[in-house]
Amino acid sequence: MNKFKKDFPILNKEFNGKKLVYFDNAATSQKPNSVLNAVYEYNTNYNGNPHRAAHILSVKATEEYENSKKAVKEFINAEGTENIIYTKNGSEAMNLIARSFAEPRLKKGDKIVITIAEHHSNIVPWQRVAEKTGAILEYIYIDKETGHLLEEDFNKIDGNTKIVSMLHVSNVLGIKFPVEKLIKKAHEVGAITIVDGAQAVPHMKVDVKELDCDFYTFSGHKMLSSLGIGVLYGKKEILNSIEPFLLGGDMIEYVEEQSTTFAEIPFKFEAGTQNVEGAVSLKAAIDYLKNVGYEYIENNNRELMKYLLEEMLQIPGVNVIGTKDYKEKYGVIAFTIDGVHPHDVATILDNYGIAIRSGHHCAQPLGKYLGVPASNRISPYFYNDMEEAKYFIEKLKTVRSVMGYGS
Ligand code: ALA
Repeated sequence: MNKFKKDFPILNKEFNGKKLVYFDNAATSQKPNSVLNAVYEYNTNYNGNPHRAAHILSVKATEEYENSKKAVKEFINAEGTENIIYTKNGSEAMNLIARSFAEPRLKKGDKIVITIAEHHSNIVPWQRVAEKTGAILEYIYIDKETGHLLEEDFNKIDGNTKIVSMLHVSNVLGIKFPVEKLIKKAHEVGAITIVDGAQAVPHMKVDVKELDCDFYTFSGHKMLSSLGIGVLYGKKEILNSIEPFLLGGDMIEYVEEQSTTFAEIPFKFEAGTQNVEGAVSLKAAIDYLKNVGYEYIENNNRELMKYLLEEMLQIPGVNVIGTKDYKEKYGVIAFTIDGVHPHDVATILDNYGIAIRSGHHCAQPLGKYLGVPASNRISPYFYNDMEEAKYFIEKLKTVRSVMGYGS
């Protein structure tokens, strides 16, 4: 058994009389005891409203919150904690940029360039910006077979481009996009760059200084932490120059009857009582991941992806979406089965205790472009092992026969 699995209570449970094989980590990952305990400890020993009072619980809650920010700063190698804003999730982080940065600045004819593989969280906010400002939303398309970005489309990043926003790792294709190249190209024309790192941070070391992106977003719950905490990294001069997103408590300096001055970054973007419990869990998750190490995570991923892909490509009727090169798959394999609806596939596998995703994976434009409106997706993580991968393949082979097909 995988040596980390024992740390995750839910992974050692049975559901419907079957041992759980959890292969839906791209949707949300599971939590180790250290994260669960950190949240319990916080609530039993320190719970208070941060930045509010002089009493010990408020002081302690503030300390916990700030320590979490320090951990995130180191985790992504940000310049300082003032570059780190906590949000509810990755979508909220993207909305903050779209509403506070883009909407007031863009005008008719300006361009926003994204890729066709984006998650809805990196599409819908830009559609709104385009609608409100008259800006044009353009897409970099992909090779339908390999999932690689079409290099000729990089020329869409031109003198009219103000924003280039792209995923780091695709939640459907599993591929890592050449964000470094796109960031460089965007900066050459003076555009601002945003990287959606929700599927990248669980799998690889991210260094925002090295990437030189202007914004980087991700959510905690895909990297072992609680739901409800997300991260927006931003360069200081940009964050300083933009209006707050949400208005209210704790983000102010002075409030008069008719006007308000705002707190410094990052606080001016964190209105209302913050999710200290989430911040605590995020720090504990980072500590746990540090202990596992990205080397282990990457090696385990390679081993599983190699086996799973090789086997899946040989099963009659199974079609893998995007690159078939295991070295290019970061924790995700999406697929369809001829003649079987993805919901039936997921339900059949659920009966064997295997949890996988079915549907459009919050990437409908990609599905439409590829002609695959719905599919299945497995997304193992570092706590999954070969034993589970073999069990999955064994059961996947039965799906078509369960549905009444000969092979
Ligand atoms: N974004 C999540 C996924 O890809 C929900 O499943």
